[in-house]
Amino acid sequence: MPKLGELNYVKAIGPEGVDFALNKPFGGGGCGRYLADLGRIMELLPPVPARVLDLGVGSGWTSTFLARRGYDVVGQDICPDMIDLANQNRDRTGTGSIAFVVQDYESMGYREEFDAAVFYDALHHAEDERVALAGVYKALKPGRVCITVEPGEGHSVASAHTAEKYGVTEKDMPPHHIITLGRELGFRQFRVYPRAAEPEMACWFDRTRPLWPARPGRWRVAARFVRKAVRTVVKGARGSDQAFLFDTPPEAILRAGNLVWLQK
Ligand SMILES: C[S@@+](CC[C@H](N)C(=O)[O-])C[C@H]1O[C@@H](n2cnc3c(N)ncnc32)[C@H](O)[C@@H]1O
Repeated sequence: MPKLGELNYVKAIGPEGVDFALNKPFGGGGCGRYLADLGRIMELLPPVPARVLDLGVGSGWTSTFLARRGYDVVGQDICPDMIDLANQNRDRTGTGSIAFVVQDYESMGYREEFDAAVFYDALHHAEDERVALAGVYKALKPGRVCITVEPGEGHSVASAHTAEKYGVTEKDMPPHHIITLGRELGFRQFRVYPRAAEPEMACWFDRTRPLWPARPGRWRVAARFVRKAVRTVVKGARGSDQAFLFDTPPEAILRAGNLVWLQK
């Protein structure tokens, strides 16, 4: 009975877990990554004013940010205790237009009411993700978008202890699976964006070393070019080269926990 685990989750995590959920994204680790993910979602949503369906909303932190941005938000979750926390969160932050509802995303009845739908770390808890995505497809107005931010391949194994401890569902939910389902359901356009990971360094300076001798001269640039070419011939193209060379999305990106944008 995995849905029973989802329904009882808040009771099972105790006061510390509740405190973490209520203060998300600020308590505990991962704050920067959560906010970076949300930043990317904000960039990809249609402009305000717009109605957003926030699915598997948990304690509602994403909805409170979206409402502050000016969206009219419906945040839904199967767990009534989570929706209580989400309401507390809304009352505490006191911002924007949000309605939180107890609802199973696998049995929704919305019809062309929303401009966008967001699954943040929630679709991989579905018993039947196809049914959940079908409900979202119906809920969206024509041409509007669904954004998923979900863990990729390996998640179910990595989270087996959580699934066992709390009786919740923990599936792999990689982009290739979401896109395959989305295509079958009628979504027409698909994009994949990297999920926030460790900050990527743009460049690096060591002030103890002078810049000038380290500046790459033309021989150094040529050597780097040859090295890259040899590496491509011997080992094959890297992810970033592959899309450019072969016009096919690199497999690793479609297997990893990345953000997927689907347009109806
Ligand atoms: C990992 S939590 C993520 C919550 C929230 N999006 C966040 O970022 O904190 C997954 C959420 O999905 C909810 N959930 C699981 N199955 C669901 C279903 N069938 N319908 C609606 N919500 C569901 C759970 O109750 C839980 O709150």
